[in-house]
Amino acid sequence: MFKNLVTLVTGGASGLGRATVNRFVKKGSQVIICDLPTSKGEQVAKEIGENVQFIPADVMSERDIENLADEISKKYGKLDVLVNCAGVSDAHLTYNFNLDLPKMLKDFEDVLMTNVGGTINVIRLTAQLFANNQPDEGGLRGVIINTSGVEAFNGIMGQTSIAAASGAIHSMTKPLAEDFARTGIRVVTISPGFIRSPMNNYFPKHLEESLGLYCVTVPNRYGNGDEFAHLVQSIVQNPYINGTTIELSGGMRMSL
Ligand SMILES: NC(=O)c1ccc[n+]([C@@H]2O[C@H](COP(=O)([O-])OP(=O)(O)OC[C@H]3O[C@@H](n4cnc5c(N)ncnc54)[C@H](O)[C@@H]3O)[C@@H](O)[C@H]2O)c1
Repeated sequence: MFKNLVTLVTGGASGLGRATVNRFVKKGSQVIICDLPTSKGEQVAKEIGENVQFIPADVMSERDIENLADEISKKYGKLDVLVNCAGVSDAHLTYNFNLDLPKMLKDFEDVLMTNVGGTINVIRLTAQLFANNQPDEGGLRGVIINTSGVEAFNGIMGQTSIAAASGAIHSMTKPLAEDFARTGIRVVTISPGFIRSPMNNYFPKHLEESLGLYCVTVPNRYGNGDEFAHLVQSIVQNPYINGTTIELSGGMRMSL
C-alpha cells in the first residue's frame, strides 16, 4: 500500500516529523519534508535516502506553501498523506510574581500562529492535490493527520500557549473532517503526551524519569518518535478512523 503513496511531513527535519519520515520511507512511500530553510531538512533527506525530498518552507507563509504545492504537483502529480508536525513550544507563567513580569504576548502569538495557523495554512493550500487522486473503492482520496498535545485537555502551569494551540488543533478536527468529507479526505489528530524529541531534550534526566514515573500510567517512560510514527501509519491504514483525536501518552495523568 505504502509504495504508491506520496506523503508530505511538515516539521519533518526533527522529532515526531522526522520519525514519521523515517518510517514512511522504510515502508516505500515517497516523502517530502517541509521544514524551515534553517532546519536540518537537507541533511536529513540526504541521510535517509533517495525517496525523500526536502522543500524548505515556512508553514505560516502563503507564498512558501503555494510553491511547495506547485513543486509536489509538478513532481508527483498528487498527494495522499499530509502529516502536520511543524510546531514550536513555549513554557512561561502567565504572570511571574517573583520577577513582576507578565508573559510576553509574542510568545503566545508565535505558538498559535505556527502550530494552528501553520497547520491550517498547509491544509488549505495542499487540499487541491488530494482532490486530483482517483478515489479508492470506499470513495477515499487521502488522509490529513495533525498534531495536538495532551495539554489540550490537561494542561499544567506555564502551558497556556501550548494548551491553547493544542486545544485549537483538536477542535478543528471535526469541522475539517466535515469540510473534506465529500472529497473523501479523512482528518485525524494525534494528541501526544511526552515524546522524546529535540523540543524537550533540555529537560534534565532526573526530571524526565520522574515525569515518566509519576505522570505516565504505564509504561513509565517517555514515548519515542517511532511510536508516534507507528500511530500515523495505523491511521493511514485504517480507513474507518476519521474526525477524531487519538491520545498517545501511555495513559498520562498530569498532577504536578
Ligand atoms: N515531543 C512532544 O513530547 C510533544 C508533545 C505534544 C505535542 N507535541 C507537538 O508536536 C509537534 C512536533 O514536536 P517535536 O517534538 O517533533 O518538535 P521538534 O522541535 O523536534 O520539531 C519541530 C519541527 O518543526 C519545525 N518548524 C517550526 N516552525 C516551523 C515553521 N514556521 N515552518 C516549518 N517548520 C517549522 C522545526 O524546524 C522542527 O524541525 C509540535 O507542534 C509540538 O508542540 C510534541
